[in-house]
Amino acid sequence: MPTVVDRGLEGVVVGSTQLSNVEGTVGRLTYRGYDIDDLAPNATFEEVVHLLLYGHLPNRHQLDAIKRELGARRSLPEPLVNAMENVPKTAWPMDVLRTIVSGLGLFSPVNAHGEHISDVHTAIELVAKMPTIVAAWDRIRRGLEPIAPNPELSTAGNFLYMRSGKVPHTIEEDALDMYLVLLADHSFNASTFAARVAASTRADIYASVTAALATLQGDLHGGAASAAYRTLVDVKSAENAEAYVRGILESGQRIMGMGHREYKVRDPRARHLEAMAKELSAYVGGGPLYETAHAVEEASRKVLQERKPGNTIYANVDFYTAPVLADLGIPGDEFTCLFACGRIAGWSGHILEQLADNRLIRPQATYDGPPSGPYVPIEKRGANGSKA
Ligand code: ACO
Repeated sequence: MPTVVDRGLEGVVVGSTQLSNVEGTVGRLTYRGYDIDDLAPNATFEEVVHLLLYGHLPNRHQLDAIKRELGARRSLPEPLVNAMENVPKTAWPMDVLRTIVSGLGLFSPVNAHGEHISDVHTAIELVAKMPTIVAAWDRIRRGLEPIAPNPELSTAGNFLYMRSGKVPHTIEEDALDMYLVLLADHSFNASTFAARVAASTRADIYASVTAALATLQGDLHGGAASAAYRTLVDVKSAENAEAYVRGILESGQRIMGMGHREYKVRDPRARHLEAMAKELSAYVGGGPLYETAHAVEEASRKVLQERKPGNTIYANVDFYTAPVLADLGIPGDEFTCLFACGRIAGWSGHILEQLADNRLIRPQATYDGPPSGPYVPIEKRGANGSKA
């Protein structure tokens, strides 16, 4: 008889990892032992990619090597760019990203058994190419030609360059770089778990990342960033925050970008993103998104306390993602794609970790359907399929 566990696997340990650790009660996140409070202000995304994929921070020589490799692998196969040009311009960016990432497998080398190679270089390839896909679709749907990647720029700088054709200001590049660092890994979250389940069947890295992308898109996970943006646009300004929050909670809905399964205190990533949102808002000059976001978070806490004394709620990583990415000029429906461009570092690290010591992930379920009974021939079936 299987053991019944909590719905949603809450509190269930399904494996171990050396990539990252989430300490939900104290609000700490570490990548291979390094606190994101240290990584966010000090490390670049490329350093974090090396940390997650190779197991240690790079020295200068190793950093130069991974930057060179990332720069060299950014371009997309021409047929995939052509495919994007034939997609309806109304297509949702996450649908395009998931489809084209899956398509990358069609153009990747295979071994003697016809299988794709799932190694650290394929992982770097995906880290390099995903921002190119997002930026290319961003331009194609606006009726513009995609811009070829610039191998000299950082991942963050190059993404912004490929969108606009302009090398970004350091403030913008650093903001996106820090965002990617903060999003790079988060233990066995839903999309990473999906990637590991796929990899455990010995599906290749393209298939496993496609499973992760599919799992990220829902608004209880990475889709919340786009949903939080829509909330901020609806609220319009800080003065409307409390009335808006009351309306949402009274109608039994959730405030997107708030709450977290693991964190019982504020998500440590939210603090860095909030500070970045404030700085960017001052740089961009005038947009009310940061102030609105701050007011919505405050109002959520206040109204929830009133409704359920003793309960509280905090912003998660997706909440201040909205003002940061919006102030970088990125459209709201692309936010989940940017999340994926950071998380690909963690997903691919987890896939390689799973493959290095694999066992098929195959849990059980209790059966609570009808009891077993005889097969009913079709001519004897009533409206519900049982005997007429
Ligand atoms: N707004 C209002 N109430 C909330 C919210 C929220 N955002 N989040 C949780 N609650 C309330 C629930 O209504 C519930 O109340 P109840 O006990 O009175 O029924 C209680 O808090 C617990 O909620 P659960 O859904 O059981 O908690 P769970 O651990 O499953 O939720 C989740 C985690 C799904 C993230 C939830 O907080 C949520 O829906 N947030 C909004 C979506 C979101 O921001 N997702 C991104 C998460 S971060 C990430 O994936 C990168």
